[in-house]
Amino acid sequence: MKETVVSGIRSTGKLHLGNYYGALKNFVQMQHDYNCFFFIADLHSLTTHPTPSDLHGNVKQVLVEYLACGIDPELSTIYIQSDVPEVAELYLYLNMNAYMGELERSASFKDKVRANPDNVNAGLLTYPVLMAADILIHKATKVPVGKDQEQHLEMARTFGNRFNRLYNNDYFPEPYAFSYATSLVKVPGLDGKGKMGKSEGEGNVINLSDDPEVIRKKVMRAVSDGGPTVENQPKPEAIQNLFDLMKVVSAPDTLAHFEGLYNQCAIRYGDFKKQLAEDMIMATAPIRERIQAIAADEAYLSKVAGIGREKGRESALKTIRDVRELVGIKSF
Ligand code: TYM
Repeated sequence: MKETVVSGIRSTGKLHLGNYYGALKNFVQMQHDYNCFFFIADLHSLTTHPTPSDLHGNVKQVLVEYLACGIDPELSTIYIQSDVPEVAELYLYLNMNAYMGELERSASFKDKVRANPDNVNAGLLTYPVLMAADILIHKATKVPVGKDQEQHLEMARTFGNRFNRLYNNDYFPEPYAFSYATSLVKVPGLDGKGKMGKSEGEGNVINLSDDPEVIRKKVMRAVSDGGPTVENQPKPEAIQNLFDLMKVVSAPDTLAHFEGLYNQCAIRYGDFKKQLAEDMIMATAPIRERIQAIAADEAYLSKVAGIGREKGRESALKTIRDVRELVGIKSF
């Protein structure tokens, strides 16, 4: 029996290089090696109150981009989270033994509170519980995610183990963050600090659907500095981030070339950024072309979503029937 993989992406719009190198690129290989469930986390995105038409448009965008990245609906199950209501039911059971203190201590919750102090809703607080439900509903053991999701995986293990203890069984296996690389990936953004992420602004991200001209402009505007003045000096964060991006998209000898120039204080950031932009354009070109073709094919998208709904529900229903039984919820 193949191990089960579950992973999701929030439907908040276009996918970026962080999503691709952090998670999506793995999905393509994984679908051959494991029993895979990939879903579009539309319920998770409700924490920020999108308009109904934005929400629907974003779900479509992510579905299109999943497929454009090479996810094959014949090999894996691709579904929209809200199409599988059993996830919401499991979320409810798990919420009964998720505690305020641990939810408030989650790093991503604290970040969100800091960024949006006027919208600290219960959905945001219990976000890791919904994520645990997404994973446990298929009894997955492997979850391909970027570094930023590691703590959420730890919480998913906590909630699954607690359920097992409470009901005196070993029903849920432990899920772990997974990558084919030796460590989880963190793709930096272009603003000189932290990871690539949409909430940091459009200028911070390179989207998979960005046109070459847009990519060039964004990269040329990326934060840098006046250049090194001492040989082999350590790189400040903004510069290290650009090198980390180059490591992700460029050939190893290109990276080595610019590392050498930096260490000799001979680097010209204009040339460095030009190369980085061209390599990003090369890396995303085939995906960008497929995005355009797939987006135009409404019939295909609705067929894919329909098949995903069936397969996703079939697996989820099996779990939810067992869980109801374990909890003591039975029909008369
Ligand atoms: P989300 O939508 O923020 O991101 C989707 C995936 O992309 C990865 N990622 C990154 N990886 C490396 N560097 C970056 N800069 C970067 N930005 C994003 C994320 O790690 C993630 O793998 N809570 C999840 C969605 C989710 C989920 C799940 C994932 C809901 N339920 C169940 C796995 C299993 C999230 O917000 O990801």
